[in-house]
Amino acid sequence: MSSLVMRGTTLHKLLKPITRTHANCVYPIIFHRTYYTVKRKIINDENFLSKHLQNKIKAKGPITVADYMKDVLQNPAKGYYMNKDMLGETGDFITSPEISQIFGEMLAVWFLNECQKMGSPKPLHIIELGPGRGTLSADILKVFSHFKALHNTSLHLVEISPVLSEIQSRTLCMSSNLTHNPKCFHYREGISKQGIPVYWYRQFKDVPEAFSLVLAHEFFDALPIHKFHQTYAGYKEVLIDLDNGETDEDIKFRYVLARQDTPMLKVLLKPGEAREHVEISPDSILIYADICKRIVKNGGVSLICDYGHNGTGTDTFRAFKQHKQVDPLLNPGSADLTADVDFNVIREIAIENGEIIFLGPVKQRSFLHRIGIEHRVKALTEKMSDKKQMENLMESYNFLTDNAKMGERFKFCALLPGTMKKILDRYPVVGF
Ligand SMILES: C[S@@+](CC[C@H](N)C(=O)[O-])C[C@H]1O[C@@H](n2cnc3c(N)ncnc32)[C@H](O)[C@@H]1O
Repeated sequence: MSSLVMRGTTLHKLLKPITRTHANCVYPIIFHRTYYTVKRKIINDENFLSKHLQNKIKAKGPITVADYMKDVLQNPAKGYYMNKDMLGETGDFITSPEISQIFGEMLAVWFLNECQKMGSPKPLHIIELGPGRGTLSADILKVFSHFKALHNTSLHLVEISPVLSEIQSRTLCMSSNLTHNPKCFHYREGISKQGIPVYWYRQFKDVPEAFSLVLAHEFFDALPIHKFHQTYAGYKEVLIDLDNGETDEDIKFRYVLARQDTPMLKVLLKPGEAREHVEISPDSILIYADICKRIVKNGGVSLICDYGHNGTGTDTFRAFKQHKQVDPLLNPGSADLTADVDFNVIREIAIENGEIIFLGPVKQRSFLHRIGIEHRVKALTEKMSDKKQMENLMESYNFLTDNAKMGERFKFCALLPGTMKKILDRYPVVGF
């Protein structure tokens, strides 16, 4: 801890998963998983995703933005997240935990503080959705270990990328291995450097239930969205079609509007919607609802941090390559695709649940200041004798909190059990 280094209201009900039994447990299924193998020749093809999407559109007609995003980001052969480490200065984007360990340390102290008000129940599951390089979880475990809070605790990571799960295991674990037991819901397991069990899952619904701290940092912005556009004839879903050129190489992708009302338009769009563009992520909605359900049933607290809006955002679908914004329809698979998180949807799901306290969203700058980042920075600088180290620390602090950098764009919201209301009235949740 001392040395610092630079580095819709009823929607989820309509989308409710069905359940089936397996190995004596009941677990929800949202979509059937599909498995297929891809020949080496195709995997090596740089235009694999572009050709794959072209063939799909030729066979089925225009596809939804969600279908496009899912293939571009998650295609098992060439999806953007599946084969490489895209984080950091040499990658396509940088995230707060990668800027400084102080970020993870502050979040860890926040979790410990809120957990203490609930009596620090055990067993404790720390769950991170989309852990990137595993940096944030590693910083959190260091703080929990420092405060001797790791007894009867396990770490559960929801990660779709085989490459990133390998990197996470190197960041976090003394040892880890892939599991091939069909009775297990996790696909990798290990022992952290602090000696607690670590498990990897492809989906949040596979994580076993217990009192949990659920953390999602820049995760929900990566989940597929459906896009709707208001026309004189009402809302229409935005689809992706081919813009045919003279040769196969000239073919590009373009946006078109669905002529008919699509199933997702009927299910997702709320009556009274007035925005010109609307983006809705059904995958996110299902996970928000599951987090709420688990917090009510087993207890826990969730912190969701991302860039986003309060139900006012419009056309936010975009792509990033080497730290620059690029056209999302160009060279699919070569850039990160993202859309702003709608914090209002999380609030609505929490309110609908009735037994959940929703707080936020607050800007990263306010959240970090309210939980005392400047005191931590001051304490660290007082101990530092190296000028360069001090400059690095100040630079990281500014990057995380400056409104022109990450301070304003990134926001935090928290979900807590409604049963905590009386206690939280006396001892309010810090940061909000
Ligand atoms: C933008 S990165 C954020 C990484 C990390 N949280 C951070 O802030 O440094 C998104 C992370 O979510 C993972 N991811 C994206 N889509 C996913 C999905 N559908 N299921 C599970 N993990 C996913 C990516 O592989 C990656 O680890």
